[in-house]
Amino acid sequence: MKIGIDKIGMYTPKQYVDLVELAKHRRVDPAKFTIGIGQDKMAVAPLSQDAISMAANAAAKILTAEDKAAIDLVILGTESGVDNSKAGALYVQKLLDLPNRARVLEIKEACYGATAGLQYAKLHILQNPTAKALVIGADIARYGLDTSGEVTQGAGAVALLVSAKPKILALDLATSYFSEEVPDFWRPLNQMIAEVDGKYSNEQYIRFFKETFADYQAKTKYGLNDYAALTFHLPYTKMGLKAMREILPQVDEAKQNELQQHYQQETLYGRQIGNIYTGSLYLALLSLLDNDAILQPGMRIGLYSYGSGAVGEFFSGVLQPEFKAQLDPMYYLDLLAKRQKLALDDYEAQFTAQLDPESENQALTDDDPFAKYYFAGIVDKKRVYKAK
Ligand code: COA
Repeated sequence: MKIGIDKIGMYTPKQYVDLVELAKHRRVDPAKFTIGIGQDKMAVAPLSQDAISMAANAAAKILTAEDKAAIDLVILGTESGVDNSKAGALYVQKLLDLPNRARVLEIKEACYGATAGLQYAKLHILQNPTAKALVIGADIARYGLDTSGEVTQGAGAVALLVSAKPKILALDLATSYFSEEVPDFWRPLNQMIAEVDGKYSNEQYIRFFKETFADYQAKTKYGLNDYAALTFHLPYTKMGLKAMREILPQVDEAKQNELQQHYQQETLYGRQIGNIYTGSLYLALLSLLDNDAILQPGMRIGLYSYGSGAVGEFFSGVLQPEFKAQLDPMYYLDLLAKRQKLALDDYEAQFTAQLDPESENQALTDDDPFAKYYFAGIVDKKRVYKAK
């Protein structure tokens, strides 16, 4: 039985910071941000968009009434959840009017949560072939103003509908994972910005990639030549390339060029949005599928997920005959084109406001035409989400 990704939806808030402007403001050569790091813009979430509302907005893009009725598993992978106890996926279930006969939960492991959710969903569908599972990665990445990680911030969500007979990507059964406690990135409770050892996290990302890719190769006998493209968790668009370069010598020059050309297509959305933590690998996949005209049904795509702390996983899937019909690249072109550039003063003021939870104790509104749902504020200590 084929199991995998049937639909993919994405949402990112309507505001962004231009990173050339930010570089000049921080007295950094803009080429460091746009070439060295590989980022042009970063999405900034207003107070009215959090991991939960963004997750609901990403899922709303893809779900039909028929899909909703079949969903009996909802998983939200997030690092920037809003409650130390309750699963944010419960709000998403209610907002989207999903069935109550469902298992609804949240998974946390830095940027890896959505992949854990996808693998859980795969096993769930294996046992329940007529059901569908909704897996969402949603996050706001915050490293702090004027920090080296600032340029790698971002905000957004990617929703995956997982089913039997998937229309986009049938996942191969094998998967290779590797976990080890490493202090490369963490966020203590009640702290809104992450602690990170940036250079060390780059090294761990690459080390875990080499471990999982080699293990997967041993398990499946797939060599690098068997993949049309490799997709990566992209905390910034240069990161995946650094990892891929480690294994490129395994193939001839023509294949190396081919893989690097596909890689450029998977970075197009991330370059304009930034790091969305758990959703980043799937944002790269969506960017590749939406923008790469060369991909054809039957081709195998590799996927590398990395969550600091750290867990890495390499797995793969095969593009399905109808995959192009499931995509909506014009919608995302429009969404990205209609965003508003934030003045740097406004960005810094909004960022500071987000660090003070009390500032959320007010009635919030949201005028983003691409957002059906938003966070409306806190009433009697309870978070209120509304549909427009
Ligand atoms: N023109 C072009 N490139 C330039 C440049 C210029 N003027 N100035 C610097 N660069 C290049 C550097 O050579 C470097 O390239 P390399 O990584 O290929 O060697 C790159 O820009 C980054 O410069 P660096 O000095 O290493 O940046 P930094 O110390 O400010 O830190 C990160 C970069 C990514 C470590 C930092 O942004 C960070 O901590 N991010 C959050 C953590 C993260 O994303 N981790 C990833 C794993 S999950």
